[in-house]
Amino acid sequence: MKLKSIYVCTACSAQHPKWGGQCSRCGAWNTLAEDVVNVGKTETRRGGSAALPVKPAVVVGDLRLKEKRQVTGMGELDRVLGGGFMEDSLVLLAGDPGIGKSTLTLQICDKMAGLGKKVLYFSGEESVGQIASRANRLKLKNEVGLINLNDLESILATIEAERPEFVVVDSVQVMASDEIPSQAGSISQVRYVAEQLMQIAKGKKIPILLIGHVNKEGNLAGPQVLTHLVDTVLFLEGDNFHQFRLLRSTKNRFGAVDEVGVFAMESGGLKEVSNPSALFLEGRAKNPIGSCIVPILEGTRVFLVEVQALTNYTQFGYPKRTASGFDLNRLNIIIAILNRYANMKLDSTDVYVNVVGGLKLNEPAADLAVALAIASSKLKKPLPATMAALGELGLSGELRQVPQMEKRLKEAEKMGFKKTASATKFRSVQETISLIYPQSN
Ligand code: TYD
Ligand code: MG
Repeated sequence: MKLKSIYVCTACSAQHPKWGGQCSRCGAWNTLAEDVVNVGKTETRRGGSAALPVKPAVVVGDLRLKEKRQVTGMGELDRVLGGGFMEDSLVLLAGDPGIGKSTLTLQICDKMAGLGKKVLYFSGEESVGQIASRANRLKLKNEVGLINLNDLESILATIEAERPEFVVVDSVQVMASDEIPSQAGSISQVRYVAEQLMQIAKGKKIPILLIGHVNKEGNLAGPQVLTHLVDTVLFLEGDNFHQFRLLRSTKNRFGAVDEVGVFAMESGGLKEVSNPSALFLEGRAKNPIGSCIVPILEGTRVFLVEVQALTNYTQFGYPKRTASGFDLNRLNIIIAILNRYANMKLDSTDVYVNVVGGLKLNEPAADLAVALAIASSKLKKPLPATMAALGELGLSGELRQVPQMEKRLKEAEKMGFKKTASATKFRSVQETISLIYPQSN
């Protein structure tokens, strides 16, 4: 075996013989990371081809090959996984440091142990004492085997000897194998660790949950490298200043990828949220100025979210436009539309937009709600108390239909928002505003 260093772009996986500041293939800056490859001759099989024909397994209709899943009993997780853990799958749980991956994982372990499974939790990040004290704080009751290890060979040997039925490896970035000369967290280590765990998951038919940190700099091998190796990729999202966490699958070989699980981080760990709209509307004033409710679609679920806007006279210079949880370019377009078509004089008005709860709105369906929140603040009058808004805005102010209208209206009605301003009732944003605020024109 002869080893050689190469440099791999963490964004597009292009290989380069030398390090450089920019990847010559995809043009990304600062994404090249060292990797080690074997350039020696690989041993070839002697004596010609030893390949034998293999009889194909008949899958369709063969009940013997029916999938085996382990339902965890944690509804929000089972939904995202597509009905629980497949018995031989490698699942990657990724997220920012401190978002709650280890907490969620420990709670999953407790659930699995409660179902009578033998569970092993390998942590290279925290000591057994630390994990045990967290388990105590979370008031977990069931027996989970905790092991503090960060060398892969010992982990594999332990799995071989202990024969667990559910395994957690926390995290892939701190695990290292002796077979690979680079340090833990490098692309080659991360890839090798995942490959070995994949083999043991398939060989021994054990579901393995692998934790990975997301890093923005890209100097450590991030979960991008792992995405095509593992069966399922789950992302735990949210921010440290807000309670809620969204669990989303971005890849799933055994289920749909448009499901979202909602949790709230509380003092007793992550709690499942079965009615997310109530969580996002908690603490909303009775009928506030500059506020509009929008039913957004996350996966296959609908949540009601509050959009707030504040407008102020610009004291000097250019008017300020700030958006939190909403795309700033999109906000500028909406302001331009309001200026031109809805008779709102916003060219010397500062506009601030905020999505309550730290949620990010990526859907164009939220355009009308943003426009109405701005109009409400500018005119200093609240919107009708039971009104929600839904619709994408075109550049001449026309309102467009959004997908899954019925489902969204149903959720809005359930939460007491009986009227929803949308393209079914109004043709344009100007028409909507002049009907809600007849005195504005
Ligand atoms: P952790 O699971 O350690 O994050 P990760 O493994 O993703 O790095 O979560 C750490 C945060 O969670 C920490 O800031 C405190 C918070 N937390 C709670 O709010 N409640 C709890 O019951 C626990 C255990 C943690
Ligand atoms: Mg952790």
